[in-house]
Amino acid sequence: MQQSGKRNKIVILSGAGLSAESGLGTFRDKDGLWTKFDLNEVATPGGFERNPSAVHEFYNLRRSLQINAKPNAAHFALARLEQEYNGDVITVTQNIDQLHEQAGSRNIIHMHGEINKAKCAHCGHREPWFEDLSTDLVCKNCRKPEGMRPDVVWFGEMPYFMDEIFHHLSKCTTFLSIGTSGTVYPAAGFVSEANRSGAHSVELNLEPSEGVSEFSEVIHGKATEIVPAFVDRFLKT
Ligand code: OAD
Repeated sequence: MQQSGKRNKIVILSGAGLSAESGLGTFRDKDGLWTKFDLNEVATPGGFERNPSAVHEFYNLRRSLQINAKPNAAHFALARLEQEYNGDVITVTQNIDQLHEQAGSRNIIHMHGEINKAKCAHCGHREPWFEDLSTDLVCKNCRKPEGMRPDVVWFGEMPYFMDEIFHHLSKCTTFLSIGTSGTVYPAAGFVSEANRSGAHSVELNLEPSEGVSEFSEVIHGKATEIVPAFVDRFLKT
C-alpha cells in the first residue's frame, strides 16, 4: 500500500499484550500487575523516594522474568515485517523487555525505557544492568549512594524520544497499534497523530482498546494469531 508522493513508512506501537503470550504479565487485564501492586508505590518518583527497596523488589522480579522470556510468533512476524517491507518500519514500544530485539527487529524505540539498564537518580549516569538493583549500590560516576534505579519511565516522568517519535508519526503511511489498552498518554494519542498524517491505522489487540473508534481497521484476537496473519497479508499487498 503506497500513498502517492510519500515514502512507505510503518510506525508500530506495541504494548504489554504483545509480550503476554511470552509469559510477561500485562498491567490492566484481570490478574494484571496494577491489580496486584499500587502503581503510585512502585512506578512513580515519589514511590522510589518513600520506599526504594519495594520499588527494587518489583523491578528485580520483572527483570528476572524477562531474562527467561522468549519472543513469540507476533514478535517474529514484526521482525519479518521490518526486514521484508518495501519502506521503513519503526517500532515504538512501551515494553521494557528485549523481546523485539531478540526476535530480530532493529529499528526500536523504547519510549518507557528498558529493564536491562540502570540509571543514577542523582547524576543521570546510565549503564547496562542485568542483576538485581538495591539501595546498597553506589553510582560508578558520581559515587553517591542509594540513587541507582531501573532506567524505566515512571508515571509523572516524560517518556523518552518524544520528538523522534512525533517526527516518525508525521511521516507514517501505516500505523499499527498492537497489544495496548490505549489508556496511557502520550502513547494513547499516537493514533490521532498518525491519522492526521493520513496514515492507515490498524488496531491489533485482544479486545477493543479505549481508542478503538479512531482506527480505520480493527482486528481482535491473540497477538500470536492475528499479528502473523496480518503481516502475511500486508506483505502481499
Ligand atoms: P495494558 O495492560 O494497559 O494493556 C494490555 C492490552 O493488551 C489490553 O488491552 C489487553 O486486552 C491486550 N492483550 C492481553 N493479552 C493479549 C494477547 N495475548 N494478544 C493481544 N492483546 C492482548 O498494557 P499497556 O497498554 O502496554 O507504563 O500499558 C501501557 C503502559 O501502562 C505500560 O507501558 C506501563 C503501564 O503502566 C509504565 O509503567 C510507565
